[in-house]
Amino acid sequence: MYKALYRKWRPLSFDDVISQPHITSTLRNQVCTGKTAHAYLFTGSRGTGKTTCARILAKAVNCPNAENGVPCLSCDICRDADKGTLSDIIEIDAASNNSVEDIRDLREGTVYMPERCRCKVYIIDEVHMLSPSAWGALLKVMEEPPAYVKFILATTEIHKVPATIISRCQRYDFRRIRTEDIAARLSFIAAEEQITLHEDAALLIARISDGGMRDAISLLDQCAAVSDEITSAVVSESAGTAGRDALFDIIDAVTDGQAAKALEVTGELHRCSKDMSRLCEELTEQLRNIMLLKAGCSKNELLSCMPDEMERLAAAAKKMSMEDILSHTAALQDCRERMQRSPNKRIELEMALISLTMPKPKAVQAAVQPVQQIVQPAVSRKTEPVQQERQESGQPQKKLRPEDFKPVEQWADILEEYRAVNPAVSGSLAESSAFVNGGYMLIVTKNRFFLTLLKNRENAQSLGETVKRIMGREYKILGKCNEESQQESMAQNLIQKAINSNIETAVE
Ligand SMILES: Nc1ncnc2c1ncn2[C@@H]1O[C@H](COP(=O)(O)OP(=O)(O)OP(=O)(O)O)[C@@H](O)[C@H]1O
Ligand SMILES: [Mg+2]
Ligand SMILES: [Zn+2]
Repeated sequence: MYKALYRKWRPLSFDDVISQPHITSTLRNQVCTGKTAHAYLFTGSRGTGKTTCARILAKAVNCPNAENGVPCLSCDICRDADKGTLSDIIEIDAASNNSVEDIRDLREGTVYMPERCRCKVYIIDEVHMLSPSAWGALLKVMEEPPAYVKFILATTEIHKVPATIISRCQRYDFRRIRTEDIAARLSFIAAEEQITLHEDAALLIARISDGGMRDAISLLDQCAAVSDEITSAVVSESAGTAGRDALFDIIDAVTDGQAAKALEVTGELHRCSKDMSRLCEELTEQLRNIMLLKAGCSKNELLSCMPDEMERLAAAAKKMSMEDILSHTAALQDCRERMQRSPNKRIELEMALISLTMPKPKAVQAAVQPVQQIVQPAVSRKTEPVQQERQESGQPQKKLRPEDFKPVEQWADILEEYRAVNPAVSGSLAESSAFVNGGYMLIVTKNRFFLTLLKNRENAQSLGETVKRIMGREYKILGKCNEESQQESMAQNLIQKAINSNIETAVE
């Protein structure tokens, strides 16, 4: 029968466990000096060696020939343990045995001495799945276990484990496994299995698996099933990852502001059945590489890219500002999160890409730009609210000089307070900034709707009152919508077009 590679290559001893030296050496030492704990808690992300180490530790404490804390692997106890037929090592999958009855059974079992071993070891996997009453029962056994009983709890979700349990355990945090370490292990396994695995393919698998060894070996398995020679193209194909060039094409299109091109490449990938979530993740990861290069870090172990990608990454880093890189990364991460809830992942990604190709409508920018650029259009072109205010108050038409406007430092405070007064108007002021000149306050916002809202007397009044409360004096309020907002609505149109036209809105 075919045995999955990751099971076949589960380390049987501490020496074969990679990337967790802080854990394996401590455990070995404990076994060696006979100072093992009664209860352990192994936590950390998927496929990092928790179950593996639990099994090794259970063997190590029981192997009569253990040397330096390492089980011999050849005695009956070690061999039966590896076959899973040793009755004194009891593995419980809490995902399917999570009731209080299950734990009561366990508790009853603890009263019997081990049959063949020194210690009776209970390995409770996925322990976070226990029901509340099961936790209570477990706590009871853990409070006063017989001397020969040991517990090893394993979980990916430590935050779901009650503090009363955690405090009774020695806790070990398993790290994500470094890309290079995964790749090296994959190469080793491939060699043993007589699979041809290209170096860049091993790295690609490692990157995709995000620190989890099981996923990495499974993907290797999957690739080996489709081809005798595993290249990065085979990996991309099997994992549904984007062709590496396509990633750069999208990033270049984003940098050059070519929304259509970015959508085109994405559409092509979609047609080839590429997974949109994966694509989003890969884009994020390339941006991270670009960010590291931009920050002057070229350490190979921090970057996660193919050797032959360095040049294109460096070129991208040169072209992009750090500000853009950071905001793009954040936007893609948001997108990835939305994708999890969205019925149409493709549209989520497309919207994100389009927004990335837009020049940024940043209030921050407005605040640091010379006031001139902002104010001038307000007084020359876009003047409805100004006029209105003036006519109403009957004030003389004083000439407003741009350089006399000063940014309002308390603007954030004003917005904060005004949110409680009028959420609608305050909402239209997201990413806005304000400037004052004499008795005038000019509010620059990217949301055109604010101008409409401001024409309403009550709105204008309540805003004026809040301003007065915080600034200590009255201002005539003028509103202006800055240019970027038009591009925003262009983006909106483009998205709408995309949705309406060639793009099928199939549910993925
Ligand atoms: N540190 C490691 N060194 C070598 N191989 C590892 C390591 N961690 C995991 N593996 C490989 O991945 C497989 C799964 O590992 P294991 O069952 O120990 O993961 P886990 O941490 O318990 O994951 P999960 O939380 O998903 O149960 C093993 O069979 C082994 O092939
Ligand atoms: Mg496990
Ligand atoms: Zn042994």
